[in-house]
Amino acid sequence: MKNGSAVAGFYKLDINKRHRIVKRFAKLSEKDLRLLKGAALSLKTADRMVENVVGTTHLPLGLGLNFLINGRDYMVPMALEEPSVIAAASHAAKLARPTGGFVAGSDEPLMIGQIQLTGIKNLKKARKLVLKNKSRIKEMANSLDSTIVNLGGGVKDVDARILKTKNGKMLIVHLIVDVRDAMGANIINTMCEFVSPFLVGITGGKIGLRIVSNLATKRMAWARAVWSKDIIGEETVDGVLKAYAFAEADAHRCTTHNKGIMNGIDAVLIATGNDFRAVEAGAHAYASNGGYKCLTKYKKDWHGNLIGSIEIPMAIGIVGGVTKTHPVANISLKILGVKNAQELAAIIASVGLAQNFAALRALATEGIQKGHMELHACNIAVIAGAKGTAVEKLSKRLVKERDISVSRAKELMKTLFRRKKKIIVKKKIRVRIR
Ligand code: MEV
Repeated sequence: MKNGSAVAGFYKLDINKRHRIVKRFAKLSEKDLRLLKGAALSLKTADRMVENVVGTTHLPLGLGLNFLINGRDYMVPMALEEPSVIAAASHAAKLARPTGGFVAGSDEPLMIGQIQLTGIKNLKKARKLVLKNKSRIKEMANSLDSTIVNLGGGVKDVDARILKTKNGKMLIVHLIVDVRDAMGANIINTMCEFVSPFLVGITGGKIGLRIVSNLATKRMAWARAVWSKDIIGEETVDGVLKAYAFAEADAHRCTTHNKGIMNGIDAVLIATGNDFRAVEAGAHAYASNGGYKCLTKYKKDWHGNLIGSIEIPMAIGIVGGVTKTHPVANISLKILGVKNAQELAAIIASVGLAQNFAALRALATEGIQKGHMELHACNIAVIAGAKGTAVEKLSKRLVKERDISVSRAKELMKTLFRRKKKIIVKKKIRVRIR
């Protein structure tokens, strides 16, 4: 597509026109569009996904635009309920385009599986035995899933360490598994369970937990972007740097700073059917290593431009689980057009950085309420019963009055729209008289 993901005025277009643009951009089929238009997750599919199903719930799916990442244009599907997030990320990405957009990457998809062994008399000897049997353990675990091994994945390493706990010392064995394009929790849990009888045999220990670790430190994603001072202004550069310093020094602010990053990240995770709780848990644990810190960093370059970067564990997949069963997740991946999970991880990191820059820029300058309130007012108007063109009219009035409350919206509904009804009634009467 000529303009890639930088489609000017996309937000002003009606949804049908947006559909046509994304269809062309991502070569979607008519069936994909029908799924986007309708309630995409059927009750039948939902019933196969979780237990006790009685319905489904939906979130808006929007597109993060202007994302130029490693020289390629992406439209990024984002699913969330919060107004302004998608617009903010798109704006940040737009401001980064003249300086080349985002440079991003991610590690090989290595996940950690943990096996807990307790009640071992000679822990040092047991540890040595585990390490001596590395190849055997690897072979055993890899015999479980030939597909992943044929794709170049499988257990790559085995480690063991003695852990002092409040319940005595224990031996913790780690399986380091290359899960390729999967998130990997299932395959890892199965492998951990499978090799544990062998570990009991060689260590004499009692088996405890066998589970994936959500602190995916061997599966990091990162992104970097430069925002030119000539585009964003020197005041913004300094404002963002001060905001960053505030967050680095104060956990209350840092939590909100990181929450803003996760606004964007979770939205892409949800759109693509990934386990956002896993990434959230990993992100905050990573941020807490050595005191709770920001997931992003900012500095000035020699010319006074702002350099932003992010580093975050990213345990995500593009195969298996909901990524395939949920039709919208499927279409989202199609829109992104990613080749593998590593590419998706790099995109998600870029969105996190864009989201954070957008929040800090707004907070350090005009404040975030302005943009936030316009969409919030639309929601309030709908809650108050407005429909069609009345939604925009009512929301504009609420913003103008600076009273964006349901009670005021209901009052205005009565005054603004009752008059119209009267006119219609009069017209009818006139017709009858004639
Ligand atoms: C709101 O959802 C997110 C922000 O609070 C993030 C931040 O303060 O950095 C705007």
